[in-house]
Amino acid sequence: MTQYAAHSTPHSVLVGVCYTRPNLQQVEKPLTESNPAIETHDLVKNYDKVEALCGIDLSVGVGEMFALLGPNGAGKTTLFSILATLRKPTGGSAKVLGRDVVHERPAVRRHMGIVFQEPALEQKLSVRDNLLLMGLFYGLGIKAGRARTADILENLGLTDIAARQTQKLSGGQKRRLELARSMVPNPDILFLDEATLGLDVDARRNFWAQVRQFVRSGRTVFFTTHYMEEAEVADRIALIDKGRIIALGTPQELKQRIGGGVILLTTEDDARAFAWLTEQGYKPEKSERGILLVSAEPAAVLPKLLTTMPVKPLRAEVHEPSLEDVFLTLTGKTLDGGEANPAKPAFTIGAAP
Ligand SMILES: Nc1ncnc2c1ncn2[C@@H]1O[C@H](COP(=O)(O)OP(=O)(O)O)[C@@H](O)[C@H]1O
Ligand SMILES: [Mg+2]
Repeated sequence: MTQYAAHSTPHSVLVGVCYTRPNLQQVEKPLTESNPAIETHDLVKNYDKVEALCGIDLSVGVGEMFALLGPNGAGKTTLFSILATLRKPTGGSAKVLGRDVVHERPAVRRHMGIVFQEPALEQKLSVRDNLLLMGLFYGLGIKAGRARTADILENLGLTDIAARQTQKLSGGQKRRLELARSMVPNPDILFLDEATLGLDVDARRNFWAQVRQFVRSGRTVFFTTHYMEEAEVADRIALIDKGRIIALGTPQELKQRIGGGVILLTTEDDARAFAWLTEQGYKPEKSERGILLVSAEPAAVLPKLLTTMPVKPLRAEVHEPSLEDVFLTLTGKTLDGGEANPAKPAFTIGAAP
């Protein structure tokens, strides 16, 4: 990791939370590949009577892109904040790159970059000056700060808009600048909390392509999201609900947990169809898109259903399980947000609703 000469600056609130400036000059025990990038044991966080995290055990490898996927209120920001040393756990322990997030907080901070859900940019400053300011905050000095800024602008394809005032950027450009800002300390691990909230699909794709580039250099990313298609870019995903990890694996592994495929039905009377399916021994789930049925052999089961069901079907489709389906079958509810796109059907019968 690059080392920088440090200047002493006072405490700062630059990153939107009370934050002590990490001293980049210090060199402590070296990072070793044998340490997981993140390791938590029975991590608990209570806010008064709210149990936000109920015993999280997690291990994330160095060089991994790891997603925490769950609905609003699941505990994502809480876990993110504890790992990024911004909140203290009520119980249990967590290490980031071998350092304890409570007892070795400055050491963790020296190695991390962070992107918040809320904007943390200086709106009146140019793109370039936002990065330079961050460099000064990290004690780089003007010369080193300028060099670092130029590097990052180039790496993230922001050189063309470097002189533009931040408040005049598009939503996607602002988020890319947030990402650029998190790169200023040359971090070994990046923490991102719902970093693309509100962006359109193209802007999100672009954003994650750049995060991928960071991972390609052997560094680690931990991000939270409630968009299932966003979590798909991760190497592994932990599904979180009500403060608990309910499933963990690669996107493919998680989908394979369902086995077979998913049948999605809409009928003239979904309530009656649901009751009938239950009577027949199926395990239907209600979703915003209709009645959902997990089946080992959907292509064989669907025609049988369509001919025997006492309710007129309006539309039927079969698709590969999506992460949304995985979440639904584990929790009986959707990932909320409504924006999660349903998987493309393998085939469809009937008119689009
Ligand atoms: N500062 C706080 N004080 C009290 N309750 C909180 C606070 N922050 C979060 N919570 C509660 O903890 C739970 C988890 O919240 P959070 O970690 O923000 O979830 P997510 O990021 O997945 O939406 C929710 O029930 C939320 O209302
Ligand atoms: Mg959150």
